[in-house]
Amino acid sequence: MKPNHHATTPRVDDIDPTFEPWEPSRPIPIFLLAVLIALALGGVGMYLSDLAPWADAGASDPVASIPAAPVTQAAPASPDSSTVQNAPVLVHAGRGSVWSCASCHGDQGQGAGSTPRLAGLDETYLAKQLRDFAAETRLNESMHYVARELTDQDIAEVAAYYASLPVPRLVLPQSDADLDRGRMLFEKGDWKRNVPACVSCHGDQGQGVGTSFPPLAAQRPEYLFNQLAAWKGGHRHNSPQSLMDDIASRLSYRDLYAVSNYAASLPGPGADAAH
Ligand code: HEC
Ligand code: HEC
Repeated sequence: MKPNHHATTPRVDDIDPTFEPWEPSRPIPIFLLAVLIALALGGVGMYLSDLAPWADAGASDPVASIPAAPVTQAAPASPDSSTVQNAPVLVHAGRGSVWSCASCHGDQGQGAGSTPRLAGLDETYLAKQLRDFAAETRLNESMHYVARELTDQDIAEVAAYYASLPVPRLVLPQSDADLDRGRMLFEKGDWKRNVPACVSCHGDQGQGVGTSFPPLAAQRPEYLFNQLAAWKGGHRHNSPQSLMDDIASRLSYRDLYAVSNYAASLPGPGADAAH
């Protein structure tokens, strides 16, 4: 029987002459090649991560491993240039985990929605807010993340930079707020509720007064409302003597909405001269 004979006694011809149990000539070079490539890639990776500016911060702080916003222009490498023109670079390009301010506050510092306008705000007020965010006496995640990496020098420079920008004209959409009630609160307050007029501290046109009282005019209505709601809800605590906490907590949300929309509709300093 031919098949049987075949199965039980294989002939020498049936054995593959090239078969070798360990195949020494082929797998080992491929294996070695793989190891070498892995080592080379690892080395390049370590080299690149050493070059990256956030490498050190990433080691100590898990938050810092969040990728930075796109940077359009590199921070100056030499210490000389960084002391001269630091503010425009921080504002428009950012530096590592300090995201570009303009990416949220707009190219002209005009703000958007609940992100405030910074252009034309008082320098001392701006610096105070940045320190408050860093120290978390004023709570905001984004601003805390940005401000904690700023040096005193950075804070002084960006505050001076934004203070020097002209107040952009704010064109508001039609709102359903009760603007008469808003105007009443703004100019006269509500004495039944022990709420003083906004103008008594923020200026007769809401333009802001001195270094402590920020403008309300030409500020984003969403932002104004957000801040008043934060005081009312106990989330912003940094106004001197809890002034704003008390005022906001005595008004209804409807009133906060009305006065925010009214105040934002005022032109603000310099805006009239511009057109
Ligand atoms: C990721 C977005 C984002 C970036 C980047 C950012 N900000 Fe802000 N900033 C905000 C928001 C949102 C608020 C409002 C916070 C709140 O509701 O309390 C704010 C508030 C502020 C305020 C308070 C203004 C006021 O009227 O009280 C200052 C000052 C400020 N930012 C400065 C800066 C500076 C300077 C930079 C750049 C170094 C910067 N911000 C980068 C989002 C951002
Ligand atoms: C007794 C003085 C006083 C009165 C009256 C007053 N405010 Fe203020 N307000 C302040 C001070 C001081 C600050 C700044 C707090 C800080 O340093 O963070 C402020 C801040 C604000 C801010 C935050 C602005 C920003 O850029 O973050 C808003 C909004 C505000 N006030 C709205 C009002 C409204 C609306 C009224 C009237 C109903 C009013 N305020 C009446 C003292 C006052």
